[in-house]
Amino acid sequence: MKWRERWEAAFATSGDLSGGKETTIISILQAMLIYGMMMVVGDPLLAGGHYGIACTGRPTKKDLDSAVKLGERVARLVKRVERLKKVLVVYESIHNGNTERMVNLIGDCLDGGVFRVGEIDKSIIQDYDVIGFGSGIYFGKHHRSLFRAHR
Ligand SMILES: Cc1cc2nc3c(=O)[nH]c(=O)nc-3n(C[C@H](O)[C@H](O)[C@H](O)COP(=O)(O)O)c2cc1C
Repeated sequence: MKWRERWEAAFATSGDLSGGKETTIISILQAMLIYGMMMVVGDPLLAGGHYGIACTGRPTKKDLDSAVKLGERVARLVKRVERLKKVLVVYESIHNGNTERMVNLIGDCLDGGVFRVGEIDKSIIQDYDVIGFGSGIYFGKHHRSLFRAHR
């Protein structure tokens, strides 16, 4: 299984303040745990929130700061546990590009690879140790293509 024994973190963007951000983040983390991934969650003081990061609509400066903190947290924890460096961020962003804005910032701060879910394949994933997932919320859930990504 190509996701197995790789690290994961998650984030989501929504239109509504209570549109399902935390449940979506947990759904992503939970789904990927089933595929054998190891999770890095957020931190209310150091990295955005309890489970990962989220924003409503276009990301604000505070949201983007949280994205950077989560990215730095992933890098810090992973480097402490293992000498791993290569980070991939997989996302889908179909509405206003809000998730894409967050993803690009996280990718920059991690110096990692950033790909839409439709662009990745096994040969790309094999090059990475840590995988982050991001999605807009569509009808209360992350984009369904993230579930297809493990195949
Ligand atoms: C088809 C569709 C369904 C959506 N469903 C929800 C929803 O259930 N809850 C919510 O808060 N926002 C919902 N939104 C708004 C998006 O989550 C929000 O605009 C998000 O930032 C989109 O991310 P993106 O620009 O990266 O695609 C929906 C948007 C679309 C297009």
